[in-house]
Amino acid sequence: MKSQKIAVLDFGSQYTQVIARRIRECNVYSKIFSYNVSAETLREEGIQGVIFSGGPASVLKENSPKPDAAIFELGVPILGICYGVQLIALMMGGEVSRSDRREYGHGTLRTKSNSRLLASLPPEIRVWNSHGDRLVQLPEGFVPVAETENSEFAAIENAEKNIFGLQFHPEVSHTECGAEILRNFLFKVCGCTGDWSMANFIERSVEDIRQYVGDEHVVLGLSGGVDSSVAAALIHKAIGDQLTCVFVDNGLLRLHEREQVELLFRENFSMDLRVEDQGDLFLERLQGVVDPEEKRKKIGNAFVEVFEMAIKKIGDVKFLAQGTLYPDVIESVSIDGNPAALIKSHHNVGGLPEKMRLKLLEPLRNLFKDEVRLLGRELGLPKDVLWRQPFPGPGLGVRVLGEITKEYLEILRGADAILQEEMVKADFYYKVWQSFCVFLPVRTVGVMGDERTYDFVIALRIVESADAMTADWARMPHDLIRMISNRIINEVDGVNRVVLDVSSKPPSTIEWE
Ligand code: XMP
Repeated sequence: MKSQKIAVLDFGSQYTQVIARRIRECNVYSKIFSYNVSAETLREEGIQGVIFSGGPASVLKENSPKPDAAIFELGVPILGICYGVQLIALMMGGEVSRSDRREYGHGTLRTKSNSRLLASLPPEIRVWNSHGDRLVQLPEGFVPVAETENSEFAAIENAEKNIFGLQFHPEVSHTECGAEILRNFLFKVCGCTGDWSMANFIERSVEDIRQYVGDEHVVLGLSGGVDSSVAAALIHKAIGDQLTCVFVDNGLLRLHEREQVELLFRENFSMDLRVEDQGDLFLERLQGVVDPEEKRKKIGNAFVEVFEMAIKKIGDVKFLAQGTLYPDVIESVSIDGNPAALIKSHHNVGGLPEKMRLKLLEPLRNLFKDEVRLLGRELGLPKDVLWRQPFPGPGLGVRVLGEITKEYLEILRGADAILQEEMVKADFYYKVWQSFCVFLPVRTVGVMGDERTYDFVIALRIVESADAMTADWARMPHDLIRMISNRIINEVDGVNRVVLDVSSKPPSTIEWE
């Protein structure tokens, strides 16, 4: 039997995905639809309930996004949040007026009567508001069930028709008991049983992917990072050899990185994995280039060129798969002027999809990073893939300062492998945001045995961060730093000095280039 499903209609709120995620956290499957999805489609989907998200528009504006009115006739429970409740009020015959000032921030919600939606809540809770319009008159059949200092209609319901509305946002963490309210909607109103899990997500995605792709061929650029690895495993489960993964060895990878990807995906998962061994091409393009931005551009262009070539070699490819996650999706609905739902992705491989007429396949686009890790675990990917530290697309290219040469890359690889090994051994690798070495093309004087040396410098960059927007250098035990430094100087030819980067971001960045 198919598990139950809640439809979340997206009216352009920045929280739409958060609503969907909160529902998944209750072990109920949720699917996001454009606000203009037809009632017929929802009926065919077999949904248990509908949530109208918030949105930045005013319902009073003529071209503001409106749902199919027939949704109100589907006979399934509806919950409108913020913009969603104004819609319900307006479309069912109530009155909404433009407010002089936007109510924004905290309010205190006082429950007024017994409502299934607000069951078991304390009499007063702090809630988070962000809305402009206000309800002036409720439609027939509706009653207010909670109020705030600014609104007597902070929560409304039509118990008979199972239609509910909240002026505040239950999905955000600033609203106390918000999760409880959503749980009430799911379990007490919609009758969901909460039997959905990541395993069900896989089942459903597999079906969706098969249906979307048909007999066509899909290509995926595998980097070995979390997102593309999980996307590859999921799509492979769905369509097997209709998927070809391309791994570009750009010569800027860490020690054994390529072999690890080959072992996991070719040997363990039996995927059709094509490795493009193009280190020389990248190095050639990078010859004499010292400017960091220029380096990035050259690496990016070379990647697109190689990837395009790889696709041509595969032959008749119709789909480009990407591990785009929700935080990568920059805009979901365009409201003013053009109410068409427009989903944009970035991270596209340099315009390739348009140029090669490829359709995008992005099965992770509604998930958050931690959910992708859960999914990956369910698909059998190992911890060292799912929890690996971020690694920049240009790879070691932005960690060899200035011009890149084979010799410098080799030195950096050797040093970096020692750092990672010691970080894992000391149980710090998964605790910090990133730990890596940077090659400084600077020679300093040293003494080894009785000999004077004149060799290069390696910098250690180990940072703590929550989201890479800000970061601080990690306070590692001195003994660990000493062990790493000793090993690098003793074991890596060409290095006689190790320094520690003690800069925070801002004003420094995490990477050196
Ligand atoms: P910065 O150096 O700007 O880095 O503090 C922030 C985070 O982004 C990673 N990074 C990149 N990732 N392509 C990527 O995919 C890039 O060109 C790139 N540059 C930096 C960096 O490792 C850190 O996690």
